[in-house]
Amino acid sequence: MTKKIIIAIDGFSSTGKSTLAKQLANHLGYIYVDTGAMYRAVAYFAMQHGYISKDFFDKDLLIQSLNSIKLQFKYNQNLAFAEMFLNDENVEQQIRTIEVSSFVSRVAEISEVRAMLVQQQQEMGTESGIVMDGRDIGTVVFPEAELKIFMTASASTRAQRRYEELVSKNPDITFDEVLQNVEERDYIDTHRDDSPLVKADDAVEIDNSYLTISEQFEIVLELVSEII
Ligand code: DC
Repeated sequence: MTKKIIIAIDGFSSTGKSTLAKQLANHLGYIYVDTGAMYRAVAYFAMQHGYISKDFFDKDLLIQSLNSIKLQFKYNQNLAFAEMFLNDENVEQQIRTIEVSSFVSRVAEISEVRAMLVQQQQEMGTESGIVMDGRDIGTVVFPEAELKIFMTASASTRAQRRYEELVSKNPDITFDEVLQNVEERDYIDTHRDDSPLVKADDAVEIDNSYLTISEQFEIVLELVSEII
């Protein structure tokens, strides 16, 4: 029997972390956890309750309400993917909007939010056989992960990918708006005090600006094979 490991995938937004993580999880029969969805669900909760808007954010109210936030991933057979539930409501669509994207980094800066989500993420990994993607998986959540990948690509490449995803649902969206959101999130994610996005010393860096999805998958699968 091959040994089960923890695969940590970190990197900038829209670098295709989740595409790679899902492919690996399906191929290896592992659990996939999208930690960005958890931060997005908390941001969506804050929006729903009026704690955050374009020029207002009541951090204290959000912190006081954290124990009334229940997050669950429920596997959807048809989509072959675990969807995010916030207090028993499927919020998978709602958390992917540009509005949530524009608030989520501010929510992810809060140490109390991070502590709560990191603890839940660590509990999910106790059995190994897990692929988890995010910003701090190899550095904070699973510093002992057997394989750490750090993904990068230029901001314009990432904004183009994201724009193509969003424009089908929202035809009014512009490329510049998406690029601005990507650059803002990069800045906040790399400059926050608590667990900023950094490459772990022992992570393998993959710049996929010029790699196809299958090329990138083959590279990482080779790394996995060497370990297991
Ligand atoms: O991966 P994503 O774009 O869905 O993540 C949404 C936001 O959540 C991102 O701007 C940074 C934050 N995040 C984080 O701080 N730590 C994680 N482990 C995952 C996401």
